[in-house]
Amino acid sequence: DWTMAEFRDQKIAEIREQVGDGKVICGLSGGVDSAVAAVLIHEAIGDQLTCVFVDHGLMRAQEAEQVVSLFRGHYNIPLVHVNAEETFLSGLAGETDPEKKRKFIGKTFIDIFEEEARRIGGADYLAQGTLYPDVIESVSFTGGPSVTIKSHHNVGGLPERMNMQLVEPLRELFKDEVRDLGRELGLPDAFVGRHPFPGPGLAIRIPGEVTKEACDILRKADAIYLEEIRKNGLYDAIWQAFAVLLPVRTVGVMGDYRTYDRVCGLRAVTSTDGMTADVFPFSAEFLSNVATRIVNEVKGINRVVYDYTSKPPGTIEWE
Ligand code: XMP
Repeated sequence: DWTMAEFRDQKIAEIREQVGDGKVICGLSGGVDSAVAAVLIHEAIGDQLTCVFVDHGLMRAQEAEQVVSLFRGHYNIPLVHVNAEETFLSGLAGETDPEKKRKFIGKTFIDIFEEEARRIGGADYLAQGTLYPDVIESVSFTGGPSVTIKSHHNVGGLPERMNMQLVEPLRELFKDEVRDLGRELGLPDAFVGRHPFPGPGLAIRIPGEVTKEACDILRKADAIYLEEIRKNGLYDAIWQAFAVLLPVRTVGVMGDYRTYDRVCGLRAVTSTDGMTADVFPFSAEFLSNVATRIVNEVKGINRVVYDYTSKPPGTIEWE
């Protein structure tokens, strides 16, 4: 009978075999997948691993701090924290095409890893927390025509010039299996149970141009939404919940004043692997409470809508 403990041991052996005495650099995204990959690889090869956390300024509120403290505090895994907000935001300025946004972010990640690898005296391998659904979805949509739906930022190989091979120990796993593996490796439950967060971060939750101002507005709305979800005990029943900030402005009224501000969309879905998803059935009371709080507390938003689209035909993220 196949168990997660056996899978872990087998992967550790495979990683040792693949890497030998080479050096590995691992990009942490802030999500569960890359964290589990990093801890697994660290068990296999110890100090041959260096983790790089690239803070692209597109994280949710508090996310960056949580990742850094988990790795520096609980594990003794060497962690380089790169603040690259300026690089990402200036590169994204004026760009509104979803695929161009994704491709810019993916390329910039690679550039920064390359630079960090050079800084630690070179690395032979780049580790990533790529999962099975990431591999599938970047190639084609299951059962549909063979077209790219979205370029997941962490899939698609490396530029030739990088001279690094990929280490992707989670490539055969689905999300629930990664969580089991994370628990097997002793990661805290609260961390392992976190909702997935996409590599390109808030950039794909702000249709249209991504600016610092838009990110700040979105972080506030998203934090209120997640706070209410946790407060109502719904977090673990949901696969993923997040706010999006639309580039559309609509007219509203607050007190005696006319407002003309942006629209916030709320998304929440249930799923087992992210490949198909159903809309989470919040009560009307819950949704109107969240809408009221967001409009009252977040300057720049005057209207809130709930996304009632399943996947397919929608995707989970809006870009
Ligand atoms: P979609 O929007 O394609 O998302 O239905 C399916 C799942 O994948 C996540 N996602 C990503 N994860 N890099 C990632 O690591 C990406 O570029 C990316 N794009 C989407 C999404 O959050 C959902 O869980």
